[in-house]
Amino acid sequence: MSIVTETQREVDRLPLEAINVADPRLYQEDLWRPYFARLRREAPVHYCRESAYGPYWSVTKFKDIMTVEVNHEAYSSAAELGGIQIEDQPMRSSFIRMDPPQHTHQRRVVAPIVASANLANMEGTIRERTARVLDSLPRSETFDWVDLVSIELTTMMLATLFDFPFEDRRKLTWWSDVAVANVTAHDAPVHSEAERFAELTRMAEYMGRLYAERASAPPKFDLLSMLAHGTSTRDMPLREFMGTLGLLIVGGNDTTRNTMSGAVLALQQHPDQWAKLRANPALLPAFVQEIIRWQTPVIHMRRTAREDTELGGQRIRAGDKVVMWYVSGNRDEEAIADPESLVIDRPRPRHHLSFGSGIHRCVGDRLAELQLQILWEEILRRDLTIEVVGEPVRAYSNFLRGIKTLPVRIGA
Ligand code: HEM
Repeated sequence: MSIVTETQREVDRLPLEAINVADPRLYQEDLWRPYFARLRREAPVHYCRESAYGPYWSVTKFKDIMTVEVNHEAYSSAAELGGIQIEDQPMRSSFIRMDPPQHTHQRRVVAPIVASANLANMEGTIRERTARVLDSLPRSETFDWVDLVSIELTTMMLATLFDFPFEDRRKLTWWSDVAVANVTAHDAPVHSEAERFAELTRMAEYMGRLYAERASAPPKFDLLSMLAHGTSTRDMPLREFMGTLGLLIVGGNDTTRNTMSGAVLALQQHPDQWAKLRANPALLPAFVQEIIRWQTPVIHMRRTAREDTELGGQRIRAGDKVVMWYVSGNRDEEAIADPESLVIDRPRPRHHLSFGSGIHRCVGDRLAELQLQILWEEILRRDLTIEVVGEPVRAYSNFLRGIKTLPVRIGA
């Protein structure tokens, strides 16, 4: 059981070895900042001997995270070594949990759907849907921004990427929630790994039917057809098929969803930045990057050391779990000036870790940016004032920085 406390002063009094930043309550209660501030200052590569996930290293500084990211020979993502989350998940398989050469082949199969040529094709559809969603929002009454905007827009996008039956699209939201749930949380959609597997098997059955149709038709430009015709993906075993769908659903859904929600919260807390953006919409691309840094939708990625090595003066041994805490790297004062402030006109807005780096760097980054850019362009065009009128409910997770509900009100 780890100690959860609130202020920097209290955290500074804890013995260093008692610090366990993997406790999901830190993220649910948004209390993680002082812990990482202490680690960055006193133990930037820190060993936690005991946790619910066994012993692990925490990498908390920007530059050390980059060292791990770009050295995929020493720091492996392989499922058979435990995969990419602090919790070992050897049974989950997909290309994010693979090393080269398999990773390279499978990533190449899906990458064209988020390449710039296709993004240009999708831009009109994204804008038209965004406009429709914003115009249908209630005025002068409280509603949940997460449900009506963030989930709706990202789920519609996902349905398009898969060419998934549009009327069933909330199934994608459900499977995404199931795939990422911490099964020990009281409000989790599933409460055991067996339940999760049963739900994801239903997903595989539903998707399997669509996949079979696409496999027997000529290739077309959607994710299922691409997987069905790709030489390195068409004969995937069931678990890998489930894992790959899970990766694409979660990748394209939760992360962008939580950034859309986090942006509303961040602007409420920084009204000067909102005023700056309204006065100068040319700042939108930099604003989008800053919001992605600010929210840091993926809290961590984990690697496993394949060999004995050294990192930040610490001796890492083959087999050790090495966790890159993006939330901390993005708040590292040595890499980012005034990191706790939202600053929408930073000189190097892309200088953040939210999309990772190296061979696994997010494949959907440009699509996420486009969706966020269009959402805020359309909000500015309508001159909407979005007021947060209650506390956000945050997810019990040390992996995805999720906002489950966010009550807001838009003036008439
Ligand atoms: C703001 C939105 C997003 C954030 C913050 C984000 C973040 C990330 C991160 C941190 C990684 C792992 C990087 C690493 O290990 O170095 C990743 C990988 C990935 N993301 Fe995203 N993502 C976002 C949106 C998307 C979207 C829209 C898609 C799909 C359409 C997507 C699909 C993927 C896939 C497939 C991978 C695995 C790449 C690989 O292993 O080669 N992501 N993302």
